[in-house]
Amino acid sequence: MIEKMMLKWPVFLCTLFLFIGLPWVSSHGEEYPDPAKFSGPDACGSECHKEEVAIWKETRHALTFKEMETSEKGKEIAGKMGVKRPKTADECAFCHFTRMMVDAKVQVTAGPTCESCHGAGRDWIKTHGDYGGKEVKKADETPEHKAQRLEQSLKAGLIPPKDLYLWVRNCFSCHLGHDEKLVNVGGHSPGSNIELVSWTQGKPGKAGTIRHNVFYTQGNPPAAVERRRLIFIVGLMTELEYGLRAIGKATQKDTFATKMARRVKTAWDKLQMVDKAVAVPEIKAIISGMPAIEKELKLNHSEPLNRLADLVREATKTIAKGYDGKGWEAMDSMIPYTPEQSS
Ligand code: HEC
Ligand code: HEC
Ligand code: HEC
Repeated sequence: MIEKMMLKWPVFLCTLFLFIGLPWVSSHGEEYPDPAKFSGPDACGSECHKEEVAIWKETRHALTFKEMETSEKGKEIAGKMGVKRPKTADECAFCHFTRMMVDAKVQVTAGPTCESCHGAGRDWIKTHGDYGGKEVKKADETPEHKAQRLEQSLKAGLIPPKDLYLWVRNCFSCHLGHDEKLVNVGGHSPGSNIELVSWTQGKPGKAGTIRHNVFYTQGNPPAAVERRRLIFIVGLMTELEYGLRAIGKATQKDTFATKMARRVKTAWDKLQMVDKAVAVPEIKAIISGMPAIEKELKLNHSEPLNRLADLVREATKTIAKGYDGKGWEAMDSMIPYTPEQSS
């Protein structure tokens, strides 16, 4: 009896939360961030990041704001999901739109923006760009001030480009393992064919990628080859983690579960190839610790799958912090990316 009650409580609470409109939670458990914490891309671009904003405006992230809702596919998916307006629907907004407070009201102001990837900025936007007073330029900032500025900004939610572990998760939270209903009922794609190196370092612009290395470096060059190797591995492992969690949420033998299982299998095979090419103990431990992954890829199996996903996550964290990609030449042929000639 007590057990039954305990099972019913979460269901009851969830229904209640939905009813009073608490944030949409993605299939991996991410919650829609608080609209009150967003400042919007204009706040980033007005003085300091004009070039980044100009690049972003050409990306799908900016364009989806105007185009998704009115596209044939958008109308079709919304119709099947019973969603009247994608812009105001929790089912779509987590990934397609930025909500922020304007005149004390929640408004949808853009597609995924700077803050979708670098963290909602209200609590750090001033701090992260203040080099020690209005008259102090970046080059003249003292090391002590810099350290303090960074520490404070991180505490307040800034996701810095350096922190691979954090920003890679962010990409996958929107790009892989969309929820089961959206895919099986709505006919939405089950996730992007995302490979982190080509998607972050490939040619920027329309129908291109997000590359905007224009702040610390000039001319928007791709990341160095060592960094690309690390991005590749962290991307692959995060794909594995998110795929495992997504299958854990699957309840039907349908498109969502099948596609996710295929993704996990492919990521797993690639990881084994990486393991053969370069010696990373954390990868070896994951591979030898999970000998029969195929047997785990089944429906209604969330607890064991989440446990595996947690192991992968811990290893990913360690790898992202502990390595710099030097000496990993042997894996270069696995990375589907060549820097473009002119740029
Ligand atoms: C889709 C996610 C995403 C969006 C949107 C995004 N960024 Fe980034 N940004 C990243 C990633 C990832 C990196 C690091 C890339 C790397 O390490 O190669 C980065 C790097 C940066 C850097 C460091 C660049 C350098 O010179 O090294 C700055 C500054 C920055 N972003 C600001 C912005 C601003 C301002 C916006 C909004 C106009 C924005 N970003 C939008 C993901 C994003
Ligand atoms: C808040 C959710 C969100 C985050 C975070 C996010 N994206 Fe996206 N991204 C989207 C959506 C939604 C689209 C598709 C928009 C459309 O086409 O209407 C998209 C499209 C893209 C595209 C264009 C793909 C194509 O098929 O044309 C690239 C490249 C991309 N994202 C890369 C990234 C990378 C790399 C990161 C992490 C650094 C990232 N995104 C983070 C939501 C997100
Ligand atoms: C978990 C994240 C997520 C959610 C939730 C989501 N989408 Fe998407 N959507 C994406 C991504 C990422 C893409 C880019 C294509 C791809 O690679 O899957 C995309 C692409 C699309 C596209 C094709 C590109 C375009 O702009 O025409 C349409 C249409 C679309 N989504 C509609 C919707 C609708 C309608 C909803 C809500 C009912 C929704 N999406 C909910 C992540 C999401």
